[in-house]
Amino acid sequence: MSDRVHDIAYAATCIREGKCVAFPTETVYGLGADGLNPLAVARIFELKERPHFDPLILHIAQFDDLERLVARMDPRAFVLAEKFWPGPLTMILPKSTIVPDIVTSGLPTVGIRMPAHDIALALIKSAGCPIAAPSANKFGRISPTTAQHVRKQLSEVDYILDGGKTTVGIESTIIQLTERGFHIVRNGLITKEELEAILPFDPHATHDTIVAPGMIKSHYSPIKKMIIAEDTTLTGIDIDTAALISFSGRYDTLFRTVVRLTHTNDLKEYAVQLFAAMHSLEDNNAIQTIVAEPVPEEGIGKAIMDKLRKATYNWKTQ
Ligand code: TXA
Ligand code: MG
Repeated sequence: MSDRVHDIAYAATCIREGKCVAFPTETVYGLGADGLNPLAVARIFELKERPHFDPLILHIAQFDDLERLVARMDPRAFVLAEKFWPGPLTMILPKSTIVPDIVTSGLPTVGIRMPAHDIALALIKSAGCPIAAPSANKFGRISPTTAQHVRKQLSEVDYILDGGKTTVGIESTIIQLTERGFHIVRNGLITKEELEAILPFDPHATHDTIVAPGMIKSHYSPIKKMIIAEDTTLTGIDIDTAALISFSGRYDTLFRTVVRLTHTNDLKEYAVQLFAAMHSLEDNNAIQTIVAEPVPEEGIGKAIMDKLRKATYNWKTQ
């Protein structure tokens, strides 16, 4: 048995025993447990220090798994699954009775996705159950894109399956199906335009009619001050202790420490590396302030700007 196969088999045994395992997906690392075992799921909330009002998503490895987790099969969900799964799309659908209330925070709906990652898929298959998994960070903190990032925040986790760096770098797009079409709960790599090719966007669904308890204003926060370049006058910044996360290079000469995430204005490349850059600057003792250059809000740029706004929210309100 190769080391990798052995590690996956061990991780799957942990999941079956009700333990928590961090594992890679194409987006970010997840903190997984048996999604049908309420006690195992409770441990995710405990390890992550996550409030119980914030529901988890279930990860599946086969299309058949979808059917037993939903109350009724919406044919539109099948079409979307066929097009985007495995991949970074989470669909919120009416839940079946086998999904424990603790997974959905008591909501009648459940978020489901099939990750596009060989290790994740092998783990789910080998565990033989849907795996409930939020991102493997402490609640409100920077999401992990490597096993080291997980270790930094969640050293108590029962096991970490190391699959190297994730390839998308930010969390899945989350949608909810409405009578008229779909509503986007969280932006990600899969864009509104790509989804619209299959189903109409529902402009009437608003955050008042859609329940999205986890979409709070502050999230992904480093423990250090973080600001968006255009929200501030950069003249007051101490360039010895501030670092720039750069997109276009426009502000690079104003800083001594610059982390340029792309040299080709490529938003996907920026997204893949954003959390890793935030982690490394958070860990850098010489740095006190992280400044991020905003990016154009097109394609995955929408999701990037959502992350930057949430990561900097606490500093704006002080
Ligand atoms: O890419 C991803 O989606 C990663 C990887 C690990 O798969 N997971 C992830 O999980 O980002 P998490 O828990 O960090 O974010 C999922 C979000 C939460 O903010 C939660 O509030 C929302 O999905 N959510 C889950 N179930 C929901 C439901 N039934 N209704 C509304 N929102 C829901
Ligand atoms: Mg998260």
